[in-house]
Formats: sequence, C-alpha cells, structure tokens
Amino acid sequence: VPDGVREMLASRIHDVPDYPKPGVMFKDITPLLADPEAFSALTDVLADICAAYGATKVVGLEARGFILAAPAAVRAGVGFVPVRKAGKLPGATLSQAYDLEYGSAEIEVHAEDLTGSDRVLVIDDVLATGGTAEASLRLIRRAGAEIAGVAMLLELGFLGGRKRLESALDGAPMESL
Ligand code: PRP
Repeated sequence: VPDGVREMLASRIHDVPDYPKPGVMFKDITPLLADPEAFSALTDVLADICAAYGATKVVGLEARGFILAAPAAVRAGVGFVPVRKAGKLPGATLSQAYDLEYGSAEIEVHAEDLTGSDRVLVIDDVLATGGTAEASLRLIRRAGAEIAGVAMLLELGFLGGRKRLESALDGAPMESL
C-alpha cells in the first residue's frame, strides 16, 4: 500500500458504536465509497494485488465485497465472479454451507464461471470470524480453480479469522489493508 494511502483509507472508515446491536462497533465503509479519490486509490491497491498474485479472476463476496471487487477486476483486466448467498443464482451452482455463531449459512457460485485454469483472488470488505471467506475458498477449489490469495480491506484481528482461514488458504497469501 503506497505511503499515505493506508491512512487516507482508514480516515474514511467510520466507527459506529452499538450497530447493529449493543456492544458491536460497526465499521462503516460508505464514506470511503463516497470519496472518489479514496475509492480509486483502494481500487488501484486491489488491482495491484491482483496482478502481483497472477490472478485470472476476482471473486467478490456478497454484498459489500461486490462493491470493492468489481472495479478492481475491471482495472486489473480480469473477470469478476460473484459468490452469492444461497438462492440468488439462476444457473448450475456449487454451494457451500458454513457455521455461524448461531445457526448456519450457505453461499453459491455459478459452476461455469470458474475453470481449472483459473487463479482466483478473493476480495471482501471485512474478515471477521473468517467463516465466509473460508467457505468461499472451499467453494472455489471445488469449482476446480486455484486460490491465488485473499485481499480484505479490514481485518478484525481479535476474532481470529486469519487462523480459521489457514487450512483453506493452504499456503496462499491473505492480505488485509
Ligand atoms: C459481512 C462482511 C463479510 C462477512 C465477514 O457480510 O461483509 O462478508 O460478514 O464475516 P465472517 O468473517 O465472520 O464470516 P454480511 O454477511 O454482514 O453481509 P453484507 O456484506 O451483505 O452486508
């Protein structure tokens, strides 16, 4: 990340106390998205990571991941593939269930969007417990593609997501900005 960019990005992510429930400090990235200089600088950083990792596709995780991943894919000159919450994709899908604090969730990808020759960079806004990212890595591998790496805008280190991701990464890099 170029000098000064990390600080600029950080200054445009706002802490919102007690949202969505008491005791939670929500990281609001909408001020960053509304600032064209900051959003463009972030897009450059993500596109550079895409190139450095030799990725041939960018996967974005619904929903905020889409906002960051799609322009980065365009700028890097590679395709964008959405990983969606279950039930939103019309074609033949692969799905992956994962555990939440209470209950479980399921994500899906269109099987034909990824091939055996793809190297995939996964982009999302926040790494929290790591459950969503871990499930996406398993899904991408099951689609036959290789993992180039993971790039996150924010990492909530105290939740231990990096540790949870370790085995699914299988040596691939994971960067948070
Ligand atoms: C948030 C965030 C990540 C995920 C991280 O998405 O954007 O995708 O949670 O949490 P984890 O590391 O504990 O899995 P959320 O499901 O809140 O949805 P949104 O992006 O659609 O708002």
